[in-house]
Amino acid sequence: IVVRRRDYRPPDWLVPTIDLDFSLDPARTIVRASLSVTRNGGHDRPLRLDGDELTPIEVKVDGRALGPGEWSIEQGALVIPLPGPAHQVETVVELAPEQNSKLMGLYASGGLLCTQCEAEGFRRITFFPDRPDILSRYSVRLEADQARYPILLSNGDPTEQGELPDGRHWAKWIDPFPKPCYLFALVAGDLACNSESFVTMSGRAVKLGIWVKEADLPRTSHAMQALKDSMAWDERVYGREYDLDVFNIVAVADFNFGAMENKGLNIFNSRYILADAETATDADYDGVEGVVAHEYFHNWSGNRVTCRDWFQLSLKEGFTVFRDQNFSADMGSHAVKRIEDVRVLRAAQFQEDSGPLAHPVRPESYMEISNFYTATIYNKGAELIRMIALMLGPDRFRAATDLYFERHDGEAATCEDFIRAMEEGGRIDLTQFRRWYEQAGTPRVRASLTHDPITQSVELVLEQNTPPTPGQPDKAPLAMPLRAALFDRHSGRSSGETLLMLTEEQQRFTFNGFAVAPVLSINRGFSAPVIVETSRSQADLAFLAAHDDDPFARYEAMQQLMVNALVGRVAGQEVDETAVIAAIRDTVNDPHLDSAFIAEAIRLPSEAYIGDQMVQVDPDDIHAARDALQRRVGKELEPLWRDVHARTRANGFSLSAAAKGARKLRNSALIYLVASGAVDGPTVAFSQFDEADNMTERQSALATLANDRSDEREAALDIFYNRYRDDALTLDKWFQTQAFASHPDTVDLVEELAGHPDFTLANPNRVRSLFGAFAGNQWAFHHRSGKGYRLVADCIIALDKLNPQTAARLVPPLGRWRRFDEERAALMRGELQRILSQPGLSKDVTEQVSKSVE
Ligand code: ARG
Ligand code: ZN
Repeated sequence: IVVRRRDYRPPDWLVPTIDLDFSLDPARTIVRASLSVTRNGGHDRPLRLDGDELTPIEVKVDGRALGPGEWSIEQGALVIPLPGPAHQVETVVELAPEQNSKLMGLYASGGLLCTQCEAEGFRRITFFPDRPDILSRYSVRLEADQARYPILLSNGDPTEQGELPDGRHWAKWIDPFPKPCYLFALVAGDLACNSESFVTMSGRAVKLGIWVKEADLPRTSHAMQALKDSMAWDERVYGREYDLDVFNIVAVADFNFGAMENKGLNIFNSRYILADAETATDADYDGVEGVVAHEYFHNWSGNRVTCRDWFQLSLKEGFTVFRDQNFSADMGSHAVKRIEDVRVLRAAQFQEDSGPLAHPVRPESYMEISNFYTATIYNKGAELIRMIALMLGPDRFRAATDLYFERHDGEAATCEDFIRAMEEGGRIDLTQFRRWYEQAGTPRVRASLTHDPITQSVELVLEQNTPPTPGQPDKAPLAMPLRAALFDRHSGRSSGETLLMLTEEQQRFTFNGFAVAPVLSINRGFSAPVIVETSRSQADLAFLAAHDDDPFARYEAMQQLMVNALVGRVAGQEVDETAVIAAIRDTVNDPHLDSAFIAEAIRLPSEAYIGDQMVQVDPDDIHAARDALQRRVGKELEPLWRDVHARTRANGFSLSAAAKGARKLRNSALIYLVASGAVDGPTVAFSQFDEADNMTERQSALATLANDRSDEREAALDIFYNRYRDDALTLDKWFQTQAFASHPDTVDLVEELAGHPDFTLANPNRVRSLFGAFAGNQWAFHHRSGKGYRLVADCIIALDKLNPQTAARLVPPLGRWRRFDEERAALMRGELQRILSQPGLSKDVTEQVSKSVE
């Protein structure tokens, strides 16, 4: 059951065209498929069409119905021996979309019928060779009850439609671009459309449609603007134009992940489409913009050029994340976007890379491909592209991507194809760089600077090593670009930035003309996805926090300053915290900094991030240390927090960068003000909650109140619940805020919420809001009693029976047991073993748990 990259073989049979005919009904859908198949190469192997939970009602070859002995079912697949080089194969199957709780294949969601095929869902719809290197032309006929399903959508362009007796109707869609079956989609339902038009750079008008429930139409304008901006951006930055006459997006309430880039018909988790000031936070707005862009950009990086096999997944995902990150940076603030992206990388990918589920950006094997839609494939993959782009510079990188798109348009390509295009188009040798694709684990780079006053020079020694990961005990040195600068500690200026290429295990760089020892700023902009270790003093870090001209490096210096103080506190050492407090104060008061950056820079690192810096994580001590430092910063700067909180109060809602920044800073000020212990803290938070005209301020006030025992806490939670109980996406926030709260009773509260009438395992967003958030709440999840582990394991066991993909996503937090004390580790492993002992466990959960428990 393990699939290996080295076992790749070209397909035995190709499928140049497929005609699909759906007679849609939630209880009984009939799917007729007609495939033209052609033998690929000289062999006598039978045609093998994948199937998952399908039973053929009819099988025909070249118009003749086959008897029972003329085909067989092997592991779900339909196997037909065929004599000639080309045949027409027809199958009929029956599906019950309303029974499909896995949300893969054709399923029902809130009165709609919709599909999800990536990675291997198409085989749940019809018998087909379900692999991305088979590209076919699709024509699709949809038929359904006209009253229940007035709108019928599929990929490509609509061609014909008509009415039928008995209140039914039909529509036909043809997609002129050959595509892999994971990009197939259909939607049927009673949908309203926000419709606009976009004129491409060559002057073609494209009809854009965002389809939602009628009542949600007013919440689609941000997504529509994001779509138009993305289309224009991809033309301007990559020279890529849209290629069909229509581009449709549908929002659905039940979805296993963020969204899906089906050709011409993107299907979205509604949380990445719907946004208005009443219900969406600024982060939600940014999420909509980023995911709309991501899926749109896939039209070239994913659809026009797709993946040969699923080991190449990062070919489309890493590159597309890189593209959406840069788009969002261009739409807002480059500095803040980079800080956010690195925070996500460290929180999700670095953790993955240091645990039992670590894998390379191009994995070697898998049991269940759904488990490989990971932070490593997506976010580390994006960092690899970012390093290539940095090494090439903008012009050569553009030449290289042009070559890649031109050379592989219409093909199923590999990561190696991409690298070769970068080498040829960008005129660079990436031989050593390729190791990034093969080697798992986060490299550690040790940087030490020594100054020689006689020669007035400094020597920088860089040493790299990557710790072992499962199956990879020995690591070779990687090639990495490190942006660096040296600062004069008197003038506060740097002598300019240099790009250092680290390729050896140890390398020395000499810089001349320094009468006094300078301060080192390294891995600026986070130019390489590594952990940098330096022995810079608190004073040097404070200097960089005040003077570095690279905003990321400045943020990083602040974080390191805080981490040192916090780790010191946890270790019971005397650490001078006045430098931290002074740096926070000076950052807030720096007139040259914008509010959003200030808010990022002064935020204390999360408990999880502090834990990541330690060999053994002590969740209680970390919580106590962070809480104490937050209280101290709150108290000592209390007047400042009051002042900031008051002056960032807005007059009316706007989504301008300045307004968003002000809200972010206001939130930080509120956190510190409440942490200060000031008697009116909860009242101030409650007023912000109560008076807010937007969800950003309302939710951040609620989150602050949720951390403490107070009457205001209960009042605010009740008000929030009653106000939003009928709005699923907003009610998710109510669950999530409580599950994420730094409150001593969180673990009991989560148990209670799991029994709340509004909690359901059927909706992945709701599951993630409660259990996903809880498992990310280090202090609460790792409650000494082990109750947190048991709750999450119970959820995994129950959910696995309905929706294995979403269940498997909850496993990794339990797999981190090696980082905790013996008692906790034993409790965590005990839960993993309990999950593994369940009868009928899915492949998805089995893979994740068995890799984690060892
Ligand atoms: N291709 C989609 C995207 O990144 C995600 C598909 C996820 N599929 C899965 N089985 N987890 O936009
Ligand atoms: Zn993607």
